[in-house]
Amino acid sequence: MASVNFLILAIILCSRTSGATSRDGGLFEASAVEKHEQWMSRFHCVYSNDAEKARRFEIFKKNLKFVESFNMNTNKTYKLDVNKFSDLTDEEFQARYMGLLVPEGTSSLDSYKTVSFRHENVSETGESMDWRQEGAVTSVKNQGHCGCCWAFSTVAAVEGITKISKGELVSLSVQQLVDCNTESYGCGGGNTVNAFNYIIKNQGITTEDSYPYQTSQQTCDSTHSIAATISAYETVPQNDEEALLKAVSQQPVSVAIDGSGDAFRQYFGGIFEDENCGTDGTHTVTVVGYGTSKEGIKYWLLKNSWGKSWGENGYMRIKRGVDAPEGMCGLAQFAYYPLA
Ligand SMILES: *[C@@H]1O[C@H](CO)[C@@H](O)[C@H](O)[C@H]1NC(C)=O
Ligand SMILES: *[C@@H]1O[C@H](CO)[C@@H](O)[C@H](O)[C@H]1NC(C)=O
Repeated sequence: MASVNFLILAIILCSRTSGATSRDGGLFEASAVEKHEQWMSRFHCVYSNDAEKARRFEIFKKNLKFVESFNMNTNKTYKLDVNKFSDLTDEEFQARYMGLLVPEGTSSLDSYKTVSFRHENVSETGESMDWRQEGAVTSVKNQGHCGCCWAFSTVAAVEGITKISKGELVSLSVQQLVDCNTESYGCGGGNTVNAFNYIIKNQGITTEDSYPYQTSQQTCDSTHSIAATISAYETVPQNDEEALLKAVSQQPVSVAIDGSGDAFRQYFGGIFEDENCGTDGTHTVTVVGYGTSKEGIKYWLLKNSWGKSWGENGYMRIKRGVDAPEGMCGLAQFAYYPLA
């Protein structure tokens, strides 16, 4: 137990602010030791003692090697970079920065595959969509050391439909979901379905400004005034990227994804694709668009909740229209959107 507490203390000392996002390759010129020092200062990281620093350096070095050898392969459609997650073990990363708990039994429900949904007859999806350009996406948020991706993704989907239906973009309260959605487990995980149900039952959700994010679960405060409401939510048919395309052409959609891989974690830019990516939804993000690159690669545009220093200013473009019906990293398995 003592060692567990110690570990938590050591991690908290790295403030991991999104601070510097130097995009030059300078970091790769120096030795691993030097790079670790530079990395520590870039992410305002101070370890509690030398043993901890040595332990973290070993993890960092492994990640650095992975990133550098990956980037040497010029065939790849995307690049990696060491980032604020590069001194964490897989277990730490998964416990702290994800947080999807897939509702039990849903993976085997056949009804998910043939469900009728409001956007099923959309005939014209267009070549591309970017809900940011429609003003329906708030700026990228940062979940920090709290496994509540589910709340960020829920809020992003509700922010989207609120803008589309009411004409106003309002940043909504993630903290309200973390504190008040008793069907989920705060920083210990949750899912979008439970969060939508909470918002429906509560007859709405307040703003980020009035109930700001704390990076930890607090006592539910139900005194804030309502800023947005939803009447229901719908499920996109499972393992059907065409159905997902129809839905995303109409509004931002919350999806489960396997975000646990080394490459996903250290994604820097380009169109992500990873054959090692699984289909176990461990993370939740929001699909806010799609398009095709200059090279002709189709992609989804994902809004993540890992701050702006990750990926393309907090976003990822990920390959769309893959052979696997589950989609790249399983993104077409569990997709939901709210109704105004
Ligand atoms: C890049 O792709 C080409 C053709 O597909 C292949 O022959 C080559 O070995 C690849 N290079 C690397 C570094 O993977
Ligand atoms: C889509 O079209 C089919 C066939 O016309 C119809 O039965 C169904 O109700 C439509 N779905 C929606 C959501 O309007």
